[in-house]
Amino acid sequence: MSLVKNHSKEVKQILSKYPPEGKRSAVMPLLYLAQREEGYVNKTAMQEIAQILEITETEVASIVGFYTLYHDEKAGKYRMQVCTDLPCALRGVDEFLQNLCGNLGIKVGETTPDGLVTLEEVKCLAGCDKAPLFQTQGPDGIQYHENMTVDKTMELIEALKGGKE
Ligand code: FES
Repeated sequence: MSLVKNHSKEVKQILSKYPPEGKRSAVMPLLYLAQREEGYVNKTAMQEIAQILEITETEVASIVGFYTLYHDEKAGKYRMQVCTDLPCALRGVDEFLQNLCGNLGIKVGETTPDGLVTLEEVKCLAGCDKAPLFQTQGPDGIQYHENMTVDKTMELIEALKGGKE
């Protein structure tokens, strides 16, 4: 997907909201635009954004890498993002994740064979006392799931198969 070719009007609209000397601030809406169609920001779009804003590709990529709502790879219908930061680790998230991987038959970063769920590790989701917890990102937006067990997670995945969260 090329931002410049496919969305030149929207790119111009976004840039018009920022003074020329502050155009680098348009990085977030441009990334949002780039991600809207395919669910992730591809390399071409990152290069284009860097060029448009006169910043480096590394700066663009670091923003994508920092925010859990931006993605640089394709995923399943739902991204299941489990917090594995230290406070959650102290509440047993490592074992939770290991067992969940075992139940799903995939590793972190992989997608279930039916294309439904991609399992990801993320940093603090601001629910440290409610670990294990994760957020799901999918067609219905973002949902938080706190104090989870593997059984409850598998039930949730069954519900997602039926189109309900
Ligand atoms: S450390 Fe996991 S939610 Fe804060």
